[in-house]
Amino acid sequence: MTLTPEAPVSRCPVAHGFDALGDDYFVDPAAHFAKFRDETPVFFYPHLNAWIVTRRDDVETVLADWQQFTSGGNSGTIDVPEQFRAIVPPDLITQILVGSDPPSHTDHRFVAQRGFTKARMQALQPEIEARAHRIIDRFEANGSANLVTEYALELTTGTIMAHMGLGYEHDAMMRQLRDDFAMILASAAEPMAEPMRTEVWQRYVDATLVLRGIIDERRENPGTDLISDMAIVTGKDGEPMLSSAQIAVHLTEFAMAGVDSTTQAVSNAVLFLAQNPDVLAEAIADPDLWPRVFEETVRRRPSSTFAARQAQQDIELGGAQIKKGDMVWMALASANTDPARTARPFEFDIHRPDPEDHLAFTQGRHTCLGQALARVQGATALKVLFERLPSLRPAAEVPLDFLPIALLPVRRTLPVTWDVADVERAKKTVARHFSLTVLERREEAEGVVSLTLGHADGQALPQWKPGAHAEVQLGEGDDALVRQYSLCSSPQDASRWRIGVLREPASRGGSAYVHDRLHEGSTVTVGLPRNNFPLRAAARYVFVAGGIGITPILPMIEQVEAQGAQWSLLYGGRTRASMAFLGELERYGDKVTVRPQDEYGLLDLAGLLTEPTEDTLIYCCGPEPLLQAIEEVSAHWPVGSLVTERFAAKKIVRTEPDTAFEVEFAASGVTATVPADTSVLEVAEANGVRVLSSCLEGTCGTCETRIVSGRADHRDSILTDAEQEANETMMVCVSRAAKGCTKLVLDA
Ligand code: FES
Repeated sequence: MTLTPEAPVSRCPVAHGFDALGDDYFVDPAAHFAKFRDETPVFFYPHLNAWIVTRRDDVETVLADWQQFTSGGNSGTIDVPEQFRAIVPPDLITQILVGSDPPSHTDHRFVAQRGFTKARMQALQPEIEARAHRIIDRFEANGSANLVTEYALELTTGTIMAHMGLGYEHDAMMRQLRDDFAMILASAAEPMAEPMRTEVWQRYVDATLVLRGIIDERRENPGTDLISDMAIVTGKDGEPMLSSAQIAVHLTEFAMAGVDSTTQAVSNAVLFLAQNPDVLAEAIADPDLWPRVFEETVRRRPSSTFAARQAQQDIELGGAQIKKGDMVWMALASANTDPARTARPFEFDIHRPDPEDHLAFTQGRHTCLGQALARVQGATALKVLFERLPSLRPAAEVPLDFLPIALLPVRRTLPVTWDVADVERAKKTVARHFSLTVLERREEAEGVVSLTLGHADGQALPQWKPGAHAEVQLGEGDDALVRQYSLCSSPQDASRWRIGVLREPASRGGSAYVHDRLHEGSTVTVGLPRNNFPLRAAARYVFVAGGIGITPILPMIEQVEAQGAQWSLLYGGRTRASMAFLGELERYGDKVTVRPQDEYGLLDLAGLLTEPTEDTLIYCCGPEPLLQAIEEVSAHWPVGSLVTERFAAKKIVRTEPDTAFEVEFAASGVTATVPADTSVLEVAEANGVRVLSSCLEGTCGTCETRIVSGRADHRDSILTDAEQEANETMMVCVSRAAKGCTKLVLDA
């Protein structure tokens, strides 16, 4: 049964000044809500005849209880015009996923969800990336574009059509269908006026008839697309679970949701990044961060600002008396920025410990079916956009051009501009590996050389952050060695990178190659910088470097000095003559303490770290004995105070022999046994599962893979104790299944 609110109703409290069609709301819905949340956490909004719920706890209460708060109100009040009811009966519309409840919702969702699994969506990534490049090819030379229509909508429309298996001949129909279904959905709250209502419904009905024909055809000749997936699902009786007419209506839902939500997120991300240039620089430098940028964007401003339900009985919520039949709109933008649940809610922080801790995709039975697609497509869209157009920014004037739908602002225009001269430069740096020239070679100390690398023509290199390292290929062909070296130049200088290399007496060939074979003018292949040792924000820093461990510390102290933070450096080495970059450190005066071992003995770490100091981080890089010593003497500091980077893999003592276990690579659909003497990475490679790797000893982070289920025995030298305990990712080159865990499921 669908409940319809008595109209008009009058309820208290109301929030005086709340205006879901005002500029303030369109500019930043979350900020507008924040003005009312404390005083009237649940208030009545007469314009829509509905309650607005603003606190996250209350929103979660509503989302969790589909029996008390039905989704039927999202579809039951959509009024199909009489003349179209023979083709689209109202009961087809009331079964849409956003407007139905169990058990029918469960059945319909079951039919659709095979086409939206995470593995399926991740498999689309290369295709999405290629499509994004093709779209940018069209306008990159212009220097300006409407990001919404020329990029984001083009990309998302192309993706959903390809996923449905629809050809170009249906392009115009699907674009129109997206807008028409949005109008139909919105008419549940605000009826459309004539003649627009008839026009919209006529187009909608025509489109669903075309889709029905395609669905019927796919039942006979199924392919590997979403429509085929849905068409061939049968029930226990062997008959199709859903009629073609019903599937067609669901496709119209997906045509809208799969396009608009990601378009809005990409546009919002560009605006947030313009306000947070450091975050943009960080993501450009480390493309692995784009999923986090996407996630933080939809937390801060969900693409669908609201989710709606209808009360099935009288209930008290957040101090308001809600009556049976009342519509209840949950302000997701407000819930995601509720300070009771989210620290620094208005800060755009891509390093939140749990980036997916938000309600942008709602939760419970109606959690967004297409969220895996949104995540893959959103992160890919941003990555490619800024790879190709790194200087892209919103235009000086961004109009408030939104579809005038109360509570659900849908942006139609985002003018952006970029420096066309950057386009060619960016093309040079898009490749993950590229060829650089040794511009300068210097003897920095006994056994230490520095190499300054850059493009021979001076073109800009990708940006990076202190703590980053670059992978350098030494030699050619099968005999080539790959080594990681910290970048020790200034991150501000995009024309060159510098590495410092110690000739290791026990060299496996890498440092000897650098010392003996690389000279000014030599060419080396270098990968994009990665950062396993990022500099986190703190009021004070204690840096400790041992020997060549000074290299990642140099750009760190340059940054904290520029920021005006308190800091000190304790720098040890065998002898003064063996300690590199001492001349560069002189400018920092007594903030730097130099302690050669032959003059002062071992570093006095205990004296340095006697008393834990509030809001202080200790950064240490150096040989293993130094790292072990500092871990011991700082054990009484707050957890997370010590951040280390190792040159070599941590020594792990095994008391029991390794055993075999099963691994499932969920995204690739491969399950295999990992023998006792074989790594997960080797098994992945043997089965054609693509996992990037480099060091093969757990020190570089290249092979980090997300754990879907199972517990890992972490043997890497990168993850902190807390990260290993959290068990969210693992380095598959060294880590295995923990004792008692017979199967690991990995996101690869
Ligand atoms: Fe370097 Fe696994 S390949 S950590």
